[in-house]
Amino acid sequence: MGRGRKRKRRIVEDVTMTGIADKGQAVGRDAEGMVYFVKGAVPGDVIDVWVKKKRNSYRQGVVENFKSLSDLRVKPFCEHFGNCGGCKWQDLDYPSQLKYKNEAVLAAFNRIGHIEVKEHRPIIGCELTEVYRNKMEYSFSARRWVPQEELDAGGEVDFGPATGFHRAGAFNMVVQIEKCHLQDDLSNKIRNHVHELAMSEGWTFYNTKEHIGFLRNLLVRNTTLGDWLVVPILGEDLPEEREKLMTSLVETFPQLTSVYYVINQKMNDTTFDLPFHHYHGKKTITEKLGHINYQIGPKSFFQTNTTQAVRLFDQVAELANLKGDELVYDLYTGLGSIALYLADKCQKVVGIEEISAAIDDANTNKELNGIDNAYFEVGDCKKVFTSDFVQRHGHPDLIVVDPPRPGLHEDVVKMLGNTGVDRIIYVSCNPATQARDIALLEGQYTVEVIQPVDMFPHTHHIENIALLKRI
Ligand SMILES: C[S@@+](CC[C@H](N)C(=O)[O-])C[C@H]1O[C@@H](n2cnc3c(N)ncnc32)[C@H](O)[C@@H]1O
Repeated sequence: MGRGRKRKRRIVEDVTMTGIADKGQAVGRDAEGMVYFVKGAVPGDVIDVWVKKKRNSYRQGVVENFKSLSDLRVKPFCEHFGNCGGCKWQDLDYPSQLKYKNEAVLAAFNRIGHIEVKEHRPIIGCELTEVYRNKMEYSFSARRWVPQEELDAGGEVDFGPATGFHRAGAFNMVVQIEKCHLQDDLSNKIRNHVHELAMSEGWTFYNTKEHIGFLRNLLVRNTTLGDWLVVPILGEDLPEEREKLMTSLVETFPQLTSVYYVINQKMNDTTFDLPFHHYHGKKTITEKLGHINYQIGPKSFFQTNTTQAVRLFDQVAELANLKGDELVYDLYTGLGSIALYLADKCQKVVGIEEISAAIDDANTNKELNGIDNAYFEVGDCKKVFTSDFVQRHGHPDLIVVDPPRPGLHEDVVKMLGNTGVDRIIYVSCNPATQARDIALLEGQYTVEVIQPVDMFPHTHHIENIALLKRI
C-alpha cells in the first residue's frame, strides 16, 4: 500500500519440519541446519518457507509451498479450518497431538525452568475429540474477515457483518461461522439465529475500531444435565432492540434454562466487572462432576471440558493422597471446584478467589453438597494469601494452585515457599508459566510428578498438573 516498490520475497526451499514449538507452530531445519518456525505446517512436512523474520539463530515464516506432506496429516473435519483461529491442529492426527503436547510440557520444564522432573506420566487423552466444550464465546463484527481465495476470485466481495470467531491476530474482523464442532449443535443454532435476526432487523454489529455497535459478544454455556445458559453482550443500551432479541431467544429456544444480558460499553471485552441482568429462567446452571454437584453462575469460571474435568480432578485427588486429617488450601478456586472435590478427603479446605460472584457460587455449592468443612475468601491471592491468612486458618498440609494462563504472581510464589507447606499441587493451563513459577521454588521443592491432561483437542493448549514436595 503506497510503498511503490515491493520488497523481494525471501523463499527457502526444502525445509523439513520435525516438531512443534511455541503457540503450536511447526519447527524444522533446512539443509544447512538453520531453524525455522512456521505456522500451518505439521511435523513431517517438507516445505518451501517464505521467510518473514530473520534472526541470528532462527527464521520465522509461512508455508510458500508444500513439497511433500507428512504421514501424520489427517483431513480437517471443519469447513472453517484454516480461517478460524480456533482448532489449529485439526490437520494433525490425534495421537500425534498428544505426543507433541507431552513433549511440550517436558520442554517447558527442561528449557524454561531447567527443572528436574522425577516422574513424567503420559498425557491423558480425550475420548471425545469433538463436541467437548461446554462454553463458547462468539463475537459479532461489523466487518467480516474475507479469505484470500474469495479476494482472489475477483467478484464482488461482501465485507459485511459477521458472527463467529476472531481470526488469530485479526481482532477487528470476525470469521463468519456456520458450524462449529466443539459444542453441542444447539450452540450453532442459537448463534446463527441471532445473526439472522440481526441481519433482518438491520441491527448494528460491533466495530472494534470505533467501539460502536449493538451486538458485541454471545456467551453460550451448557451442562451434561441439560441446562443451557445464553448471555448476549451488547455494545449499546437499546431497550427496544434488546427486548426483541431476548424475547426471540426465549421463544425460539425452549431449551434455554437461564438467560441474561450484559451491556458492555467499555473499551475491552471483559465482563466480570459488569452487571449480568437476569432475564429468564434459573439464575444458575447445574453440572455434576464425579460426586459433586455444581451450580454455575454466569460470571464463574468452570472447566470447559466436562468429561476431562472429572479426570483432571481425579488426578488431583490421587496426587493429593489425603488421609483425612489434613488442612488444604485451594488458591484460585473459582466456584470451589477443586476445594469441594477434595473436601470429603481432608479435615478442612480453604479456597481463595477474586471474583466475588464465584465465591457466592462456591458457598451455594458447599450447602448444596452438604459440605461443612470448606471455607472461602474473596480477593486477589497476592493480597489474601499472607501470613495472616495462615494464622487465621492454620498451617496447611497441601496447597493446590490453579491460576489463569499468566501464572502466579511472584508474591504468591514467595508465600508458597514461606509457608513451608510439605506438598503443592500446581494445576496449569500454561506449562510455560507453570515451569517459570516452579523454577522460583528451586532448592525448596522437587517436582515429583507431572501429569498432563488434554482438555483442548485440536488446539496447542495443554493442561498440566505438577506435584511438588518440600526438600
Ligand atoms: C483456571 S481458573 C481455575 C478455577 C478452579 N480451580 C476450577 O478448576 O474450576 C482460575 C481462577 O482464578 C481466578 N483468579 C484469577 N486471578 C486471580 C487472582 N489474582 N486472585 C484470585 N483469583 C484469581 C479466576 O477468576 C478463576 O476463577
